[in-house]
Amino acid sequence: MQKRTVLGIWDGHDAGAALVTGDRLLFAINEERLTRRKLEVGFPACAIQACLDFAGLNPARVDLVAASTTDPAKTLTRLVPRLKEEYYLIRRRKLAPRGADPFKKAFKYRFTELAPNAASRALSRAWLKRRLGPLGLGAAPVAWVDHHFAHAAAAACCSGFAEALVVTLDGVGDGRCGSLWRFADGRLALIRALPARTSFGIFFEHVTNLMNMRELEDEGKVMALANYAYPIPDEENPLFAVIGADGLDVVSPHTSTAMFRELKKILWRYPSEQFAYMAQRVLERGAAALVAEALRRTGLKKIAAAGGVFSNIKLNMRLAGLPGVENVYIFPHMGDGGLAIGAAMAANLERNGVSAYALPHLYLGPDFSPADIAAALDSRLRRKDKGGQGNDRREASPEGMQPGGGVSPLSGGQEAAAVSWVLADGLRWRRSADAPAEAARLILSGEIVLWFRGRMEIGPRALGNRGILARPDSRDIKDRLNVVLKKRVWYQPFCPSMLAEDAPALIEATPAAIADNPFMTMAFRVRPERLPLMAGVINIDGTCRPQFVGDENPAYRDLLRHVRAALGYGVILNTSFNIHGEPLVCSPDEAVRMLVDSGIRYLFLDDWLMENLHAKMD
Ligand SMILES: [Fe+2]
Repeated sequence: MQKRTVLGIWDGHDAGAALVTGDRLLFAINEERLTRRKLEVGFPACAIQACLDFAGLNPARVDLVAASTTDPAKTLTRLVPRLKEEYYLIRRRKLAPRGADPFKKAFKYRFTELAPNAASRALSRAWLKRRLGPLGLGAAPVAWVDHHFAHAAAAACCSGFAEALVVTLDGVGDGRCGSLWRFADGRLALIRALPARTSFGIFFEHVTNLMNMRELEDEGKVMALANYAYPIPDEENPLFAVIGADGLDVVSPHTSTAMFRELKKILWRYPSEQFAYMAQRVLERGAAALVAEALRRTGLKKIAAAGGVFSNIKLNMRLAGLPGVENVYIFPHMGDGGLAIGAAMAANLERNGVSAYALPHLYLGPDFSPADIAAALDSRLRRKDKGGQGNDRREASPEGMQPGGGVSPLSGGQEAAAVSWVLADGLRWRRSADAPAEAARLILSGEIVLWFRGRMEIGPRALGNRGILARPDSRDIKDRLNVVLKKRVWYQPFCPSMLAEDAPALIEATPAAIADNPFMTMAFRVRPERLPLMAGVINIDGTCRPQFVGDENPAYRDLLRHVRAALGYGVILNTSFNIHGEPLVCSPDEAVRMLVDSGIRYLFLDDWLMENLHAKMD
């Protein structure tokens, strides 16, 4: 079969682009990583260009552009981008809403529920052609893919399963809030389309919003807060009357706007954590009942899932525990940010029959050469430090000595040897002979380390190439990270990276579960005897959301092996390399800037170690 090159694009919430050739996903990136505006909305011009640049691809060689979602609401925001921008700013609390207009809100929800029609399809098609032209893609054929088909294709084709029930659940897209499919013989057959009017995703979005958190962004906080509630018996939980599953339908007595009002009426009677608990419970039981019924009717035993609702790792854990379920695979870029990949795979499935992709890692973003890194370092030499001195100088300073005279953990207790540092702009740096070993030593000594190496990850999680790393067993470090760096709420846990072979000793998981979900998409229960070792990376309910590291990232694996030599197990805290409100860092320049802005002391840029001399040692 001739390998066709498909460029997938998504121009909504968390816009992005992806490049597929034959059965390989070559490159993918979200626009936010390039514009530096978190969860960027709009046409992903930078991401498309990055796809072409990475592959050295002449736009004329793109065989097909695949895009998704042509419903009237999406089409309207394409034609009037101001609407999308305004919603983006209000949602992210950058702009105050102009008065509470219930009619406007009701209209918005009802409008977003409408399915595509001939006019919306034609208008979206014409709009996209105009936007593709300046990128040299004006002549490329365009395939439009249904929103939930795109989610489903990504889950099915990356699952590695020959046969599975494929489930998508999200807020809304193309008139649906979800779908159920049978994936077999390399084909996806629709079992049930779930109308947008009654949506588990919108339900949880309302809950998030009512708790004064940002919908489409803070749903994980609701899930985390739920763990701090006194359990309420299900019979006393009034939210079960708001939404649920009946057979293969999602049912509610309310429209989506009436549901908001109903939830508001219930909210005032309960403390926040109680409300979060009740909502989480309804989501878990409702979605699990829907999936269980679909499994019963189809006789299938494997589940592949995508859509924003499956960012809820507690729900995912519940699905894995359903009787008779053999495997569960959650597509790791499950939200709309993964739709560029999904659209490309859906079109490649339909047109070229490609139904399986190996996805051994998610390092699918840009790479930076040693010359790029050297340039980022050299740019610091041209800056002035705070004292106004020029920095065009290089100095040697003895390894192990701090400017204040203390002994740096860099010495590692070894004999201080004269190592040549480059000093400039309040920073100093040198090559590390063994970056994984040196990083592990710093981490074990209680330091927080910024770790930048190789191609950037796609998706919502840092997976070992753009990470903030620390010991797994320290609540102090966790609190410091939460408050100072991440400005996260105290109840939101951090996650561990662990060697895949050490996972069975740390958590309760079958080999299949470890193999199916290595990318922080599933909650697992920590073994009671390992709770102290993982004190900084567990939820209060004793679960965690781990990354399992195999052979896909040798340097990161090496680091974990050094940690194992000291702690007995290869496990560390790993959180995304960004500061509050910013996307994951992409380039070496951004990494250095964050070292300076964050007040953290150590950054590894590939094999370079950089130290921020202005960092506070606490
Ligand atoms: Fe979606």
